[in-house]
Amino acid sequence: MVKTQSLKRDLGLVCSLILNIFFLFKVGGEWNLSWSKRAASEAEAVAAISCSGHGRAYLDGLVLDGNEGPACECNTCYGGPDCSHFFPDCAVNADGGDPLFLEPFWMQQAASSALLVAGWHRMSYSYGDQSTISQELERHIRKLHDIVGNAATEGRYVVFGAGSTQLLNAAVYALSPDNSSSPARVVASIPFYPVYELQTDIFNSVDFQFQGDTSLWKNKSDSDTEVIEFVTSPNNPDGQLNKAVLHGPNVKAIHDHAYYWPHFTAIPAPADSDVMVFTLSKLTGHAGSRFGWAIIKDKVIYQRMVTYIALNTMGVSRDSQLRALKLIKSSSCNGRKGDI
Ligand SMILES: Cc1ncc(COP(=O)(O)O)c(C=O)c1O
Repeated sequence: MVKTQSLKRDLGLVCSLILNIFFLFKVGGEWNLSWSKRAASEAEAVAAISCSGHGRAYLDGLVLDGNEGPACECNTCYGGPDCSHFFPDCAVNADGGDPLFLEPFWMQQAASSALLVAGWHRMSYSYGDQSTISQELERHIRKLHDIVGNAATEGRYVVFGAGSTQLLNAAVYALSPDNSSSPARVVASIPFYPVYELQTDIFNSVDFQFQGDTSLWKNKSDSDTEVIEFVTSPNNPDGQLNKAVLHGPNVKAIHDHAYYWPHFTAIPAPADSDVMVFTLSKLTGHAGSRFGWAIIKDKVIYQRMVTYIALNTMGVSRDSQLRALKLIKSSSCNGRKGDI
């Protein structure tokens, strides 16, 4: 009897709790937002600041004395409090590859790309499966490649990096011999993206060294020396769909496919190499989020890259992974295979 009464009481409590939650949050079929309201209004208020179409205000922008909100950050050649002042004699940087041209696209996708992050979002060093990789993001990356048809992912491993810049060196490390008396020679075809050389040099490793233009190694690739060739397709700076120049048992290649997307080039076939590197910076234009990924055929190479990333940065920022997930979902939500 006593048991039945306490069961009834517990059931009553649970029902009342459910009803309370229901009425608290759902009024007239709409979610009645609570803690997220302030963040949403702040985001919209900053987005509404007019910078004359020549700049933008950001939530984390500098708040100048006398201002209530963040100040406008003006595009090159523009200035003044609302960026309306044009400097006719200013120099334009034609060298950098900052993908801001995609900003108007994202402003059109304001609702599908916006993200509100709770103060307690993913505070841990790892995800629930103890990895530092969001499985949901990995699933969406594979799906995106499938829709676009620009890379084979089936049966491959995926590793994330803080931009493809981190992955490029992770790949050089992973492909280099361990404890060999002779370092792997790292090469790229001129004209090449200068970071390959600068990054390989700065690590000053005994396991790998930059050796310049690939063509110098054309007749030496069957020697015992290990060679790692950067193959950039499309190439930065000339847009060529480069292919590997060197072949042989001691030659490994890192295929940098930063620009292998339909908004930069035609996609004749899915890329299918052993080591392929992609980046959010050129796919969606969010270079500031520092997110890239590599698709790897060989398990040992994949594991060496994972070790490098773990020791270098303990994985990629969970905030960046969340942002990448939102942006990739927004870009591919209605996509069907073959849709471009
Ligand atoms: C060919 C190429 N690879 C890699 C990168 C680096 O991109 P991320 O922003 O992912 O580090 C760039 C950047 O301009 C690039 O042009």
